[in-house]
Amino acid sequence: MLLGLEYGAMKLSYAEQIDLARSWLKEATSIVVLTGAGISAESGVPTFRGKEGLWNSYSPEELANPDAFQRDPKLVWEWYDWRRGLVAKTEPNPAHEALARMESRIDSFALITQNVDGLHDRAGSKNVMKLHGDLWWVRCLSCGRVSENREVPLRHLPPKCDCGGLLRPDIVWFGEALALEVMDAAWSRASEADVFLVIGTSALVQPAASLPFRAKEHGARVIEVNIEQTVITPYADISLIGKASDLLPQLMM
Ligand code: OAD
Repeated sequence: MLLGLEYGAMKLSYAEQIDLARSWLKEATSIVVLTGAGISAESGVPTFRGKEGLWNSYSPEELANPDAFQRDPKLVWEWYDWRRGLVAKTEPNPAHEALARMESRIDSFALITQNVDGLHDRAGSKNVMKLHGDLWWVRCLSCGRVSENREVPLRHLPPKCDCGGLLRPDIVWFGEALALEVMDAAWSRASEADVFLVIGTSALVQPAASLPFRAKEHGARVIEVNIEQTVITPYADISLIGKASDLLPQLMM
């Protein structure tokens, strides 16, 4: 599909845009990648804002927030139990694998993800900056202990800590602040990037959505990969409309 990148006086075809993006990635000394739910879509993990992403007709904003949990922890846990069950059956796809290869080839590489599914880790990425937490970690509301929990499906809903306290998913919910050290690190890596690759995110949730803009302000070339245009598209130097699992391996050739 042609989005009509005007590069100099030329209008580049889709194939030429892929070639150009590939050469930028090859030449770059510092690459930063931001991923969203779209990169895991072809692994079978529903996105948040697509139709199939809705669960029992609730939007993510209605469930992923502290008030909803206080009101009805069982309902919120049922949603997470459903997501955990889905994710447990999935495998990383060629896009996750291409990013793991990219990390092994370049010294200055940062992978920042909004995803909580753990598929980047399973694909072999070593240093994943998880802005929104992890589906497989739980936190006790009484004693504060954070621990791994891979029980699928959960035997008791809502699950309890050994201390008897209520466990919650160790995930950043709407209205909550991101872990400061992770966001600071993401922010400074974005400022240093030569190339900023943004993959499969609607870029509607802050502060993650600001990272590509930050990178661009600091001189990075921004390459977007998404099946549709987003708020990033007008600012991207190259916007490739297509599936992440088709495009990422091509960008790594
Ligand atoms: P969204 O569901 O908002 O957006 C998914 C994006 O992926 C959309 O722009 C799709 O067009 C794109 N997409 C779908 N399939 C794709 C494919 N095969 N290849 C490439 N792109 C594809 O998900 P996020 O932007 O990740 O937060 O949502 C951000 C945050 O909102 C999530 O981390 C989550 C949610 O509430 C928390 O859970 C805290």
